[in-house]
Amino acid sequence: MPTVTHTNEVTISFLSRSANEGFARTAVACFAAQLDPTLDEIGDVKTAVSEAVTNAIVHGYPNELGKITLRVRLLPDRTLEITVRDWGVGIPDVDKARTPLYTTGNEERSGMGFTIMESFMDHLKVRSKEGKGTTLVMRKRFSPRAGAAM
Ligand SMILES: Nc1ncnc2c1ncn2[C@@H]1O[C@H](COP(=O)(O)OP(=O)(O)OP(=O)(O)O)[C@@H](O)[C@H]1O
Ligand SMILES: [Mg+2]
Repeated sequence: MPTVTHTNEVTISFLSRSANEGFARTAVACFAAQLDPTLDEIGDVKTAVSEAVTNAIVHGYPNELGKITLRVRLLPDRTLEITVRDWGVGIPDVDKARTPLYTTGNEERSGMGFTIMESFMDHLKVRSKEGKGTTLVMRKRFSPRAGAAM
């Protein structure tokens, strides 16, 4: 068995229905509770997950229902890693998509999702291939807490 360097991990798979955005956000908050986070930290993570999962739902699968996976891992040094993956249309130019205010969406979208994820998390990596899908990895290190299990 390969060596496991992280201390905990869950994976959830769901359909690209908008109802599941709230589910994903709350599931990550519940998992992160073991870090005894501050309200600010949990708020930041919930916002970032909300943006990432909304993108997978509305942009990844614009015309069909598809599968989305959400993996949450606890890494050393109180670092939470969140991976959101879809097998949808993909992003032709990731650098351009990450530019603030850039959107291919309708008037409801402001093009700020990636910028919000970047500002609320410590690290954001986006891998995408047109026609194959998109994988987004975000990390955030939580502040030390007296009495926390880790
Ligand atoms: N999972 C994805 N699959 C395909 N395209 C995506 C995906 N995520 C983002 N994109 C593309 O990147 C663009 C920028 O995303 P971003 O979240 O920053 O803004 P937005 O979703 O358009 O607007 P907002 O998030 O402010 O509502 C999107 O308009 C879309 O073209
Ligand atoms: Mg968005």
